[in-house]
Amino acid sequence: MAMAYHKEDRIYGNVPDTSARSVESKVRSDENRKVAAAESGIKRYRLAAVILGLFCVLQAALIIFLVVSLFSEKDALKRTNFDVEAGFKNLTEERDDLKKKLNNLDVEAGFKNLTEERDDLKKKLNNLGQGGWEYFRGSFYYSSSVKKTWQESRDDCLQKGADLVIINSKEEQNFTIKFEKRLWIGLTDSETEGTWKWVDGTPLTKSYWVSGEPNDEYGEDCVEIRYFDSENNWNDVSCSIPLNWICEMKVRP
Ligand code: BGC
Ligand code: CA
Repeated sequence: MAMAYHKEDRIYGNVPDTSARSVESKVRSDENRKVAAAESGIKRYRLAAVILGLFCVLQAALIIFLVVSLFSEKDALKRTNFDVEAGFKNLTEERDDLKKKLNNLDVEAGFKNLTEERDDLKKKLNNLGQGGWEYFRGSFYYSSSVKKTWQESRDDCLQKGADLVIINSKEEQNFTIKFEKRLWIGLTDSETEGTWKWVDGTPLTKSYWVSGEPNDEYGEDCVEIRYFDSENNWNDVSCSIPLNWICEMKVRP
């Protein structure tokens, strides 16, 4: 019975004073706990707000720093670009200057060459006039008045700044006839028997052999103009016999 009574007391609040106080204090302590919890929540929020604020300030500072850095870098780049442009301009001017100088040098060198060439030609012309040379189609020709072997004849031509004649055309061939002398020309097969070469090393293409020549009759490696009544007037003959000769000096290629 006593147990049932206490139970009903608790249910209907019909309890002794001590119990009511304890409930009241429990409620208060709950409220206090709630208030404390709320305050602690507010504190946490404040802390979070402060941290967030600090973070924002830091971020703003970082942004400002970055913007300032960017601008100063831009300025530095501008200055560098300006320097590069100035350097490029200088280099371009220097290059143009050097080009001009090079051109002048070329002109000077060309002028020097031309002057030397002119003096050379003057000397040659003087020698030619005095030495009995005759001009025909771009070359001067000299026919000797003495007789020598083929090699001695060639040496004489070389010493005169010429060489034994090289016959490149029908006209030139006919021009040689008019001297009416047996003349050495600049053709030989002394290197390889049967392979005729001009003194400038070019092979024989068009020839004017007397019929039956070349026959190498006595070991004949050099060529003479033998007859004066025919266009075909070449004969191979021993290089060691003394004959007149004809030198050619080209004045145009
Ligand atoms: C021959 C030539 C030969 C010459 C030598 C002539 O009678 O026909 O082939 O080269 O004599 O002098
Ligand atoms: Ca012969």
